[in-house]
Amino acid sequence: MSAYGSFPGSRPRRLRTTPAMRRMVAENRLHPSDLILPAFVREGISEPLAISAMPGVVQHTRDTLRKAAVEAVEAGVAGIMLFGVPADENKDALGTAGTEPDGILQVAIRDVKAEVGDDLVIMSDLCLDEYTDHGHCGVLDEHGRVDNDATLERYAEMAQVQADAGVHVVGPSGMMDGQVGVIRDALDETGHEDVSILAYTAKYTSAFYGPFREAVASSLQGDRKTYQQDPANARESLRELALDLEEGADMVMVKPAGPYLDVLYRVAQAVDVPVAAYQISGEFAMIEAAAEKGWIERDRAILETLLGIKRAGADTILTYWATEVAGWLRETR
Ligand code: PBG
Repeated sequence: MSAYGSFPGSRPRRLRTTPAMRRMVAENRLHPSDLILPAFVREGISEPLAISAMPGVVQHTRDTLRKAAVEAVEAGVAGIMLFGVPADENKDALGTAGTEPDGILQVAIRDVKAEVGDDLVIMSDLCLDEYTDHGHCGVLDEHGRVDNDATLERYAEMAQVQADAGVHVVGPSGMMDGQVGVIRDALDETGHEDVSILAYTAKYTSAFYGPFREAVASSLQGDRKTYQQDPANARESLRELALDLEEGADMVMVKPAGPYLDVLYRVAQAVDVPVAAYQISGEFAMIEAAAEKGWIERDRAILETLLGIKRAGADTILTYWATEVAGWLRETR
């Protein structure tokens, strides 16, 4: 008998009564193998350097990076996405350090491969902004604009050196038109048919990349609005998606994650390849900062954002909390 009239006619709360009941009916769950750890390695340092806007995240030395990779394996994390940070004096207009076989990223790929082999999917950022002195993701023309096609040639070279170093997956993140196709060709022509491409398909120009600039010691001049997508657009991502798939992307990514869950949902509905989402530096920093002030419960907030990203359709999530969260999940709390 209901308290008032005929309502409630149905009682969804029955399925929320106990922890065991809630666990049984959970539609989504996080698993360590859902997670990928982005990691920064800096040339020429002997101690890891803290990144002030990303508490707990560092610019690794070659040595501490290897340790981080081992910890990730032990926690059950699926993969590691490597970012190389060259010494300041090795940055130039063309991002030369990005294509030298002994450039920091290539060295780091070899190190991690030697340490963990195939136990972790080793991925690399394929973009020039870490290596250019102007901080743009490509090379500039005589008017100071990012030159799409000249940049593609640089990306083809990057793909080859990263693959030569032993990477499993390259992650082109520069939003140049045609980048996936050019990289696929470069990989195939150099005997790297088995190296996969995780395409940054929907990548928005975002204020939330702020802390990343410090992480890769970038002094970006201007902004990235002529190549990264406008936050106002969602449909446009489906166009980028179609192009990336046609050009040979093995997996596609939406980035940032939290502010673009609608885009992630649309992309995930539209494809039959694995979908990744990148919870970026500013998303990380916001939660750490609010938690430090005691304004939110840190661990719950982290899990809630990750579950939201998964619920929206991500198969794989890049997050700076990957190893820590994988540890929690293994304790099955
Ligand atoms: C480009 C790249 C960026 C990030 C990953 N790859 C910066 C940008 O596009 O401006 C940002 C990641 C983050 O903020 O956590 N190489």
